[in-house]
Amino acid sequence: MSVHSEIKRRSVPELMAYKGNKKIVCLTAYSAPIARLIDPAVDLILVGDSTAMVGYGMRDTLSITLQQMTDHGAAVVNATQQACVVIDMPFGSYQVSPQQAFENAAFMLAHSGATAVKIEGGVALAETTRFMVERGIPVLAHVGLMPQYVNTMGGFKAQGMNETAAERIVADALAHQEAGAFAVVIEGVAESLGRRITETLRIPTIGIGASPACDGQVLVTEDILGLSGDRIPRFAKNFGDAASVIRDAAQQYAHEVRDGSFPAMEHCFGVKKTK
Ligand code: KIV
Repeated sequence: MSVHSEIKRRSVPELMAYKGNKKIVCLTAYSAPIARLIDPAVDLILVGDSTAMVGYGMRDTLSITLQQMTDHGAAVVNATQQACVVIDMPFGSYQVSPQQAFENAAFMLAHSGATAVKIEGGVALAETTRFMVERGIPVLAHVGLMPQYVNTMGGFKAQGMNETAAERIVADALAHQEAGAFAVVIEGVAESLGRRITETLRIPTIGIGASPACDGQVLVTEDILGLSGDRIPRFAKNFGDAASVIRDAAQQYAHEVRDGSFPAMEHCFGVKKTK
């Protein structure tokens, strides 16, 4: 092996070593411009299937395809240098069998350049995690509120709110750890449960609507920038107003096109530059 990549990204073993030392900072990105801007700040970029809702305006995450997720993954990888890039496997692309999951994950990684995949699911999917990890595909597991289960859950509802349900989610997270997952996303659970899973596992947990005790946090980038309209989940926080910047720039552009002040001669070809 004599080929060296100039890009040095956070690796999976590096992220695993964060446990107990420093927080894993994660945001979502689906496109090159956003990925380029967040890359210096984060450890991990998740190409989430939330793009179905956030980027395409669909009502849930179920309709996004393998090819769409792969293309979004490639856009994010091409625009970034240092974050570890993980792609969500879309609904239906990994639940049939471990073999199906491996083939689709291998396709996604080969055609995007991403490092790892994320799958949603409990104990029943742990064998799939094991199959992929043993064959060279790092897996980030996702337990608790799993948006791909919206129809079985009866909506996007916080999970694990009674003792039995909480025990089941602990078992889900443990099963993926034992199967070789490098970390677990915990979404939409009681704070005490997020804390308990984090204290129980030896691999990192990444919380979203879980607990500050988690080993890392993830949010949807559009949710922290005011770009999600009025669909902002309770667990998200606004960290900036990109909506105003875009709205104002579009208004100013429209104004200048209408009054003829844009384009000016400096934006035209075949015109001598004036000093
Ligand atoms: O699809 C997604 O963006 C996610 C995160 C919100 C965890 O799964």
